[in-house]
Amino acid sequence: MNALESVDQYLTEHAERNVEQLKDFLRIASVSADSAFAAEMTKAAEFVRAQMVDAGLNVEVVETAGFPIVYGSRIVSEDVPTVLVYGHYDVQPPDPLEDWITPAFDPHERDGNLYARGATDNKGQLYTHLKSIEAWTKTQDAPPVNVKVIIEGEEEVGSNNLDHFLETRKEDLAADVAVVSDTSQYGPGMPAITYGLRGIMACEVTLRGPKQDLHSGVFGGAIANPVNALAKMVGSLVDENGRVTIPGFYDGVIPLTDGERKQFANLPFDEASFLEKIGVKETFGEEGYTTLERRWARPTCEINGFYGGYQGEGPKTIIPSFATAKITCRLVPDQNPQSVAAALKSHLQSLCPAGVELEFTDQHGGNGMVVDMTGPFAAAASRAIDDAFGTPPVLIREGGSIPVVASFREILGIDTLLLGWGQNTDNLHSPNEHFNLQDFHRGTRASAHLLHYLAEK
Ligand code: BES
Ligand code: ZN
Repeated sequence: MNALESVDQYLTEHAERNVEQLKDFLRIASVSADSAFAAEMTKAAEFVRAQMVDAGLNVEVVETAGFPIVYGSRIVSEDVPTVLVYGHYDVQPPDPLEDWITPAFDPHERDGNLYARGATDNKGQLYTHLKSIEAWTKTQDAPPVNVKVIIEGEEEVGSNNLDHFLETRKEDLAADVAVVSDTSQYGPGMPAITYGLRGIMACEVTLRGPKQDLHSGVFGGAIANPVNALAKMVGSLVDENGRVTIPGFYDGVIPLTDGERKQFANLPFDEASFLEKIGVKETFGEEGYTTLERRWARPTCEINGFYGGYQGEGPKTIIPSFATAKITCRLVPDQNPQSVAAALKSHLQSLCPAGVELEFTDQHGGNGMVVDMTGPFAAAASRAIDDAFGTPPVLIREGGSIPVVASFREILGIDTLLLGWGQNTDNLHSPNEHFNLQDFHRGTRASAHLLHYLAEK
């Protein structure tokens, strides 16, 4: 048996155990957005540390101003490439809880899928790499390439403390290529390499009116209502043709080329089934662009949350004292997140009526990116995916954001292979998140084969 065959055999023999261990990981409610879960974050970092030790890595848990970064490495030789694997142990909040068929942090298998918050985004996906490194270590004493693994705990809240770690540990982290499995396949049975991601700008806006909620009959008509005012302001951020109305918003946007538009158009895409899966009757977006173009290569402005006033059952007649909107813009190269935040802030100020005060809080930002996929590393990934999934990957862009990818390029000077084993229909960030177990095993195998092919480079 050659090395790759014994790694494969090890993975087959440990397939069920790997799923059971992943379930243990998924039982930890590591929600980074909500401080009530802070103790669970520590537990998740500790779980990752122990798993990395099992995989044969030298591990440190690095404290940050936020949640810890778990960093493991194994240097085998100067003559082989160094691969930097990245993943995140934090997950999105599980809300709305009542929509889950089985509880978010009580993993269950159903119809070949594993259901739990984080199953695909990103615990299940990052786990494929830990298990592939472990298989190499247990069967061959070491992986065939140098590996460095960063698993952080703040991706879902913008990775605000990660750049500092990358900058201060730049020499330690030197690598030839990064590998991240935090994207999706193009569809079932259609694995993909993602060569572009959108960037993001996240902020929160609050309008403050009276110092406390007031009777709307006694005071209504005489003062501005913060919820009315904010609804009108944010309601005007996107026009009826799907264009964002913030002055300067489109500055720097690199237009889609005809070549890329053709490439997108050549991918199979069934709009009717896309709509059916998400329970929507019609598409809406920027005029003049297809659905894939709108999702992958055009910027947007979305309200993610809007509150203020009475939220309980039955009517209540008040003028609320405040209203808040959580807003994110998805960005494309070469838009600048800081400039977009500044443009949005001053636009909102110009729309804000007298009698309410505007507060603007910048939350996080990251650049969009597109990488060249013609090099030898992408070829190795393609071969590994073909081995594991029985078909070579298609090249796609995605609309989501992974801030570290731009940081890897800017700080460490390396490109990232975005190899997603999940599906966009896995309900990431939604109730009933799941990960197909066959894809979990295939992803683990693809990771193991990737290390093998990269060693030949
Ligand atoms: N895994 C996602 C990003 C993703 C999902 C990319 C599907 C491509 C396809 C990641 O965990 C994520 O959700 N990122 C956040 C980043 C933000 C909070 C800075 C996002 O995109 O909202
Ligand atoms: Zn996510």
